[in-house]
Amino acid sequence: MKKILLVLSLFILTGCNYSIIEEQETTLKEIYKDYFDIGAAVTSFNLDSLNDEYTTFTAEYEMKWDQLEETKDEYNFDSMDIIANYIRENDMKLRGHTIVWYQTTPEFIHDIKNLNISIEDKIDLCLEHIEDYYQTVYDKYGDILTCYDVVNEVISDSNNPNELYRSNDPYYEMFGYSEEYFEYFIKEVLKIVKEISPNVTRYYNDYFVITNYTKRNKINEFISRINKEEKLIEGMGAQSHITVSVTQEEVINTLNTFRNLNVEFSFTELDISSYENSYDPQVTYDELSLARAYNAIFTVARDNKDIVSNITFWGINDSMTWLDKDDRKDYPLLFDVNGNKKYAYYVISKFGGVS
Ligand code: GLA
Repeated sequence: MKKILLVLSLFILTGCNYSIIEEQETTLKEIYKDYFDIGAAVTSFNLDSLNDEYTTFTAEYEMKWDQLEETKDEYNFDSMDIIANYIRENDMKLRGHTIVWYQTTPEFIHDIKNLNISIEDKIDLCLEHIEDYYQTVYDKYGDILTCYDVVNEVISDSNNPNELYRSNDPYYEMFGYSEEYFEYFIKEVLKIVKEISPNVTRYYNDYFVITNYTKRNKINEFISRINKEEKLIEGMGAQSHITVSVTQEEVINTLNTFRNLNVEFSFTELDISSYENSYDPQVTYDELSLARAYNAIFTVARDNKDIVSNITFWGINDSMTWLDKDDRKDYPLLFDVNGNKKYAYYVISKFGGVS
């Protein structure tokens, strides 16, 4: 009954034919099988709340470097194994996440900064650790790994177009804020991943890609520089932590930018906040605006299916989202707090319908 009322009110609101909401047995992974993979970020403790919508998983926390190897050579695979085993049992694929990321760099890497050695030696030492780490992870999970966010969030958020890299990146800092050293290091990391796992697609992953033109251009510049002599970055991951105000034009411009770079593209961490920004106390969420925003993403993704390889939701349902704050609940996903499909789900599964 609630569903019928929703359909009716949306019909009145928009004048569109919303007869698209009907119980459907099929899943997003089925519906989109000729387009791109559908994924979700999961944790080792929410696998029991899963629905059968996905072909790929990203570990929300468990695969970050400081989670797996907090202390040099002391690995803890317990939580990641739970996710990996679920993937194996269900014949799914793993998106690796992540290696070079300022937020989850282990302490023993940070410590290299204080060693009394040259920058060249610091770079070599970092690369040695990364090679050890990636080889170990690949030995464990290589059977299910298809791609990897090798580098995450190295680009600066500053409005200054000439400030390319984030100043609090531990490697950039340790290498004396030299773009040349930093880019050499990034290239070498990508070469290590290529050498160990030539079949794993190497991604650069970042936020504000869709909604911030300046940042998008910086990422464009970064990938062009890294790939100048050899295509080391093969995929662009747009995290896509966006809000209901995203426009279809922004998504089109984003896809056009990366198409020019000749890399594949994935929406790697999609969730659509019900608030305008992270401080906004006022929810702007309603079923229709959420559906419209999801529809913008999926419409453009379908139109660019030759380069879009995956859309991954950052979470399973609204009961657990990293966007929740103590005094602010958010509703960014396709399933509500009880795991029921929201209107947006039906819209993207019927290829549109929101005007
Ligand atoms: C970034 C990271 C993710 C995750 C989110 C917050 O987007 O790439 O791994 O930590 O922040 O949950």
